[in-house]
Amino acid sequence: MELALRAYKEDPIIDSLIAIQGQQDEEFWSFKSHSRRKGAHSLIHYPAMMVPALQGTLIDALNQHMPIQEVLDPFVGSGTVMVESMNRGMNFTGVDINPLAVLSCLVKSGPYYDSSLSKKANSLLASIKSDSGTYKVREFFGRDKWFHKEISQDLEKISANIKKEKSLWARRIFWLALCRVVRSTSNSRLSTYKLHKKSDSQISEKKPPIPLFEKYLKDIFSSISDQKHCFQENGLISKGRHLGKTSIYLSDIREALTKNNKIKDFDLIMTSPPYGDNQTTIPYGQFSYLPLNWVDLEDIDKNINKDILLRTNSIDSASLGGSLKESKEKIEYLAENYPSAKSFISQIMDSESGLKRFSSFFIDLDNTIDLLSNKTKNNGYQAWTIGNRRITQQLVPMHEILIEMLDKRSLIAITSIERKIAYKKMAKRNNISDTMDSENIIIAKMDRQT
Ligand SMILES: C[S@@+](CC[C@H](N)C(=O)[O-])C[C@H]1O[C@@H](n2cnc3c(N)ncnc32)[C@H](O)[C@@H]1O
Repeated sequence: MELALRAYKEDPIIDSLIAIQGQQDEEFWSFKSHSRRKGAHSLIHYPAMMVPALQGTLIDALNQHMPIQEVLDPFVGSGTVMVESMNRGMNFTGVDINPLAVLSCLVKSGPYYDSSLSKKANSLLASIKSDSGTYKVREFFGRDKWFHKEISQDLEKISANIKKEKSLWARRIFWLALCRVVRSTSNSRLSTYKLHKKSDSQISEKKPPIPLFEKYLKDIFSSISDQKHCFQENGLISKGRHLGKTSIYLSDIREALTKNNKIKDFDLIMTSPPYGDNQTTIPYGQFSYLPLNWVDLEDIDKNINKDILLRTNSIDSASLGGSLKESKEKIEYLAENYPSAKSFISQIMDSESGLKRFSSFFIDLDNTIDLLSNKTKNNGYQAWTIGNRRITQQLVPMHEILIEMLDKRSLIAITSIERKIAYKKMAKRNNISDTMDSENIIIAKMDRQT
């Protein structure tokens, strides 16, 4: 039988993982029967979310060998690792370049004032329903392409009423509900993360935003109550506030690691990075462009740079692998330092654009790993969940390159686990999957010789 768990080095972690896997086969690590998202995990649908139960199981296994108190996810996305860390009473730091990801993490970080939320939501709905005003609709690039006039008017009305709410924590929850409404009511297809206009007949079946907003508020309220219950059962919450410390930053991770002196050292860095440049893999930015245009961005970060919404691809170009400049130097550096990169470069030599995309992404990743290694405590762990993709039909050896990059910084790979992806339909539809039907989790340990 093909083994899902590969050991690179003798380490007690491997025994723990084998004990967890027990007699079950490699299907165990697919976590097929545990894929339902509950509590705070169900607050948002975001591209390429991790499987919560799998990451939680890994945290527990690692925690047996090195007490984990401080966890960082440098590409935090919707916050899967964050909620699993909070469920274990750990302190958590998350960074993401995408304001929608940060909004969802801010909501998940709390507070969990459910009875106050219920009152505020009811009064917001009452004020929206009784509001007969006509609003001047905000302008942004592509507004009339992506929204019917009547829909825009209702979205503006919801937004204007959310702004009247005094508590920031409540407004953030309401913005998250509005983001879901925007995705459901825009003229862009739901079957893809890219902006792609629906057919005329689909567009004519308009969904009214206000009843949808009411429904999503109810769903969000019930996810928040469930999560609060879960924290209460584990003694992790007092007066609606989680007892651990949670810090969320809107930033390019490289900038956060060099300029933000609040980011200290971590016992565990657990993450899933992008699979390559967003433009040709998963366009997280395009996915977020329409919702973010209806949100008061300063409620996400008061110093936010609004240029991030100038174009539909601004977030994607600022993300890892987004800049295709100076690729010759990048290619030379990668080939000199990483044998797996060198051999891949020789396979795609004929494709200038393939070389550019490959080198831009891996240089950015290399730079990030360098900075992250300085923030990893000795004997601390890093756990990377990575997908495979192809460039010009060739499978990129992401797994091998990542292990070599970690090794260069004394992060020694201990094991990798292969997880078959049972349901990543979106990835297939989004055309990166000449790509993925499995992903790997690489676990490495910091071994600084002192
Ligand atoms: C695979 S997703 C993370 C999904 C997350 N694990 C979850 O369960 O929702 C990768 C994330 O990396 C973010 N990202 C890309 N480039 C970044 C950068 N330079 N700095 C910080 N975040 C970045 C993207 O916005 C995206 O949210």
